[in-house]
Parts: sequence; structure tokens; C-alpha cells
Amino acid sequence: MSTTVVKPAKTTREEFSSIIGTMKALVYHGPGKKSWEQKPKPTILEPTDALVRILKTTICGTDLHIMKGDVPDVVEGRIIGHEGVGIIEETGSAVSNFKKGDHVLISCITSCGKCEYCKRGMYSHCEKGGWILGHLIDGTQAEFVRIPYADNSLYPIPAGSDEEALVMLSDILPTGFECGVLNGKVQPGSSVAIVGSGPIGLAALLTAQFYSPAQIIVIDPDDNRLEVAKKFGATHLINNAKENVIEKVMEITGKGVDAAIEAVGIPVTFEICASIVAPGGTVANIGVHGKSVELHLEKLWSHNITITTRLVDTVTTPMLLKTVQSKKLDSKKLITHRFALNDIMKAYDTFQNAAREKALKVILTNE
Ligand SMILES: NC(=O)c1ccc[n+]([C@@H]2O[C@H](COP(=O)([O-])OP(=O)(O)OC[C@H]3O[C@@H](n4cnc5c(N)ncnc54)[C@H](O)[C@@H]3O)[C@@H](O)[C@H]2O)c1
Ligand SMILES: [Zn+2]
Ligand SMILES: [Zn+2]
Repeated sequence: MSTTVVKPAKTTREEFSSIIGTMKALVYHGPGKKSWEQKPKPTILEPTDALVRILKTTICGTDLHIMKGDVPDVVEGRIIGHEGVGIIEETGSAVSNFKKGDHVLISCITSCGKCEYCKRGMYSHCEKGGWILGHLIDGTQAEFVRIPYADNSLYPIPAGSDEEALVMLSDILPTGFECGVLNGKVQPGSSVAIVGSGPIGLAALLTAQFYSPAQIIVIDPDDNRLEVAKKFGATHLINNAKENVIEKVMEITGKGVDAAIEAVGIPVTFEICASIVAPGGTVANIGVHGKSVELHLEKLWSHNITITTRLVDTVTTPMLLKTVQSKKLDSKKLITHRFALNDIMKAYDTFQNAAREKALKVILTNE
């Protein structure tokens, strides 16, 4: 006589969470305080929502600003994060572009697609959305996230795509491209300066090369970051902690640069941009500024310059997605560290000490 031993089916952590309606998430608890903790799993609240299971996410410099308490709109208890790729778990009744099981790229900007700003391609100022994810509503540093206006705020990705590379498209690539390169009107033969060689400055550096500018000067006080910029295609490097940046730019260009892209967000870097822009050129500001800056109109009034500001709209995401998928743009180069989503506290440690750890972007995988 034989007996059949029935092995109990193993329940994965994810299945377990889903059964009991909870998940793990990174929660902001006021300046300097965060924890990786159990939270209720989000549910569909509006017919236009989708529930997405996170596959990969990352940490942004803006999340560090939030952690410091620089973004007072973020309330205690908020799950943060605004980047990632995932799989649709459930859709509201009005979602028509996506269904359960679809792989999607999450945009850092939520957009209804219908309001006056959305119709003008200014998703960043969507009357019902904009930058809300991981800011005014719970974000992507979690096992699941609710995405409002899913039809317009998610992008389909074919299964089998390099999903790590695509995480760079949620925020940093469209930001560098739209706020820096497009607003800076980079042209074939242009001279471009990028002040700040962090992930955003480097995203501007990579995407500026779509237009074959003659010179791309990258300026940063961190030699390691300058080294990375060199590998990514910078033609000139200036360490402004050691060299006189204005003299050096004039030596290289003769007249200043056609596009001065600010990718730091402090007064001194904006002032550098205003000092190195050539007559007829553009200062394209990307940095998030917390303090006022001095604008020397007494010098600039006659120089025919343009100054632009922009919150990323992510309207170029479909185009950038094609360039990444066709390997014209190697966004994976921006990733330096990888962690399991469960180890997000360690990942924050690394990202917070970016200079020491030589970190650019970290990838967190929900295993
Ligand atoms: N406009 C938008 O929609 C938008 C979107 C995302 C991020 N941002 C902002 O873009 C900025 C850059 O983001 P990031 O993630 O690359 O930041 P980051 O902090 O990782 O990088 C900033 C870089 O600037 C360099 N730097 C510091 N002081 C400098 C100085 N005096 N001169 C030259 N370089 C200096 C640092 O060494 C670093 O390499 C931040 O202000 C961020 O908040 C804006
Ligand atoms: Zn961001
Ligand atoms: Zn809208």
C-alpha cells in the first residue's frame, strides 16, 4: 500500500501579503524619520485608477529632499517614491488602455489627459494630477501602488523589455531632456554647459547628444562624477572647486555657451549659468530651488538671452521609450547599485552617501 504525501503549497511573501490585504512600504514619518513597514494594500478608489504591483523602483534626489523635511506638503505616514515599472494587478471600470497582467512604466507625473493643461501638453500642471505620486498621494516605494488616471499616467512596455533601463524613464530622462535639452534649444553644433553632474545632469548629457552639439562642458566639484560625465560623452570637464569656471568656459568657447543647463538647484550654480551664457543663448533651469537667486539684469538686459524654468511634463516619455528600447540611448549606464526592495533602508544609506559610495541611481527589485 502506498501513501501519497501532499506537500503544503508554499505561500510566497507576496501571496501572503495579498491574502491578508497588507504590503510592505517605505513610509515618511517626519524629517529624518522613515521606516520599511506593513501598510494596507491600496485599492481602486476611482474608475480611472489602476492598481500596480511594483517590479522595480528607485530613489530620487527629491526623495532625499522629502526626508530632510524640505517638502512640507508631504505628510507623516506618506509612502514615498515616484518612479518604477510594474504589472497591472487590477483596473477600474473606466480604464481602457490596460488590463490585468500588462507590464507598465509609471510616470512620475499623473495626468488626466483632459484638462486645459493636459491638452497643452503641460502634464506637470494637470488640474487633477501633476507631481502627486509619493508627494500628495502614496507612491512607488512599496509592493503595490494605486495610479490615478492610469490611461494617461502609465505607458505600456512589452514583457521581456529591460525593465531596469526603463525605470530611468519615470523621471530623470524626461527631466534632463525636457527641462534641460529641449528648453535649452540644443542644436547641432551648439555649445552646451551642464552645471551639476548628478543623475539629472547626466540625463541631460545623454539626451543632448541626440542633437550632436559641438561642445558639452560638464561642471561639478566631484571628480568621480566628472569622470562619469567624460565616459557619457562630455567634451570638456571643469571642477569648479579647483578651477575658475567662468574663465575656463570663456577659454573653451570664446563667447560663452549657447545653452547653460542648471542641474543642481542652488543660487551659485544658477549664477554660474547666467555668467557663462553667450549673447542669444538660453539658461535652462532644472534644479529645484529653495532660496532666491540674484539675477544680474544690469548686465544681461542687452544680451538677448532666454531663461527657462520647467517642472518635467513627461510628454516626451513615449519618444524616449523608443530610444531606450532600440538601444540608441543606454539609460542603464546610470544604474550603479542594486538592492532587493526589502533592503530599501540600506539602499537609502548608499544613495544618501552618493559621493562616498560613487552612487548614481539605485535599483530596487520586488523579489
Ligand atoms: N525640474 C524638475 O522637474 C526636476 C525633476 C527632478 C529633479 N529636479 C532637480 O534637479 C536637481 C538635480 O537632481 P539630481 O538628482 O541630479 O541631484 P544630485 O544631488 O544627485 O546631483 C547634484 C550634482 O550637483 C553637484 N554640485 C553640488 N554643488 C555644486 C556646485 N556648486 N557647482 C556644480 N555642481 C555642484 C553635485 O556634486 C552633484 O553631482 C535637483 O535640484 C533636483 O531636485 C528637478
Ligand atoms: Zn524624482
Ligand atoms: Zn489634466
